[in-house]
Amino acid sequence: MTMNIDAIRNDFPILKTICAGRPAVYFDNAATAQKPLPVLEAAFEYTVRSNGNPHRGAHIFSLAASEAYDGSKETVRRFIGAKSVREIIYTRNTTESLNLVARSWGETHLGPGDKILITIAEHHSDLVPWQRAAEKTGASLEYIYVDKKTGHFLPEDLEKIDDPAVKIFAFAQVSNVLGIDFDPKPLIARAHAHGAAVVLDGAQSVPHKKVDVTDLDCDFFAFSGHKMGSAGGIGVLYGKERFLEEMEPFLMGGDMIDRVEEQETSFAELPMKFEAGTQYVEGAVSLEAAIRYVEAVGFDVIRAQEARLVKRTLEGLQEIPHIQIIGPADPVEKEGLVSFNVEDVHPHDVAQILSAEGICIRTGHHCAEPLHRYLGINASCRASFWFYNTEEEVDYFLEKLKGVRPMMGYGE
Ligand code: ALA
Repeated sequence: MTMNIDAIRNDFPILKTICAGRPAVYFDNAATAQKPLPVLEAAFEYTVRSNGNPHRGAHIFSLAASEAYDGSKETVRRFIGAKSVREIIYTRNTTESLNLVARSWGETHLGPGDKILITIAEHHSDLVPWQRAAEKTGASLEYIYVDKKTGHFLPEDLEKIDDPAVKIFAFAQVSNVLGIDFDPKPLIARAHAHGAAVVLDGAQSVPHKKVDVTDLDCDFFAFSGHKMGSAGGIGVLYGKERFLEEMEPFLMGGDMIDRVEEQETSFAELPMKFEAGTQYVEGAVSLEAAIRYVEAVGFDVIRAQEARLVKRTLEGLQEIPHIQIIGPADPVEKEGLVSFNVEDVHPHDVAQILSAEGICIRTGHHCAEPLHRYLGINASCRASFWFYNTEEEVDYFLEKLKGVRPMMGYGE
């Protein structure tokens, strides 16, 4: 697959930021991706020409806002393969989407004796809401653990999915630390075999690969716009209509109502039942533009470029002494990111040294503290890519990484 990398990078002015005498190397895409000009322009155009409060007025701006907002959902629906726009709820981000499910589904469907099943590889967005649901309902929270070397789920732990007491199984399609795509389809089918609901966290998959929620057959699917080039503050919850229909609203207020009496309220149809308050139309427009941008680049091109970057990074890391790669070291098992540690050097020192050279990586526990603790480490470094990153950037990163231990007073 080929692509015009210069033309693509021209769409991202931030990548021209000069740092340490060269364009900054942005390898923190799993935290948030940069935004291309067409996305920024779409939100700007909407704001300067059409801004209004959607669903609440008969004037031209309210109608334009309604059209922009509602129209964007069709693009999201098509993008993730949902059957109906009634199944597409806008939220602030993956975290809010997962909180919505944990609260509106979890707290009304779970009780003592029930099990919530998640995995040790979850980031906090898909972990803390389930802790709260367990506390509130008396259900227990159980984990599937991973092999500490390979990062893959322990086969004996996968049997937990078959337990009829498991009422909901929530897991990330792609781990934000290990980089593994956990191949969700068979796991979803396995949970469905005894009627458990399945929540798939797509925060780290949607920007990198084609997702089809109908084919996966998950009951809920969550992702954020900002990890795929849209404005921050817009996320998506997909839910099968039959689930969303019988769930309580998450937030109460304007536009999610049908009729309001002094003492009681009936609620609007889907998806509005879950979208209380003035909607973030600029965000919806931005998300739609980001989807169109990603589709124009093409997932085949995105995947090919990320595969090249991951391969080069892993090969390079394995040639540097004293580097510990977290999770699998085989490039085919990594989806666009590589986590690692440099022996004797705290990840924050690694990040600071690299930052002084214009390289942006993430360090810490990447919102996955239990996973780090389970792996016996406090923190790690992570380089995460998107299609606008280059092999030249990887080489520069590897060269500077080689200098980290000597700079801290250790041998190479
Ligand atoms: N969960 C996000 C990350 O991995 C914030 O960086």
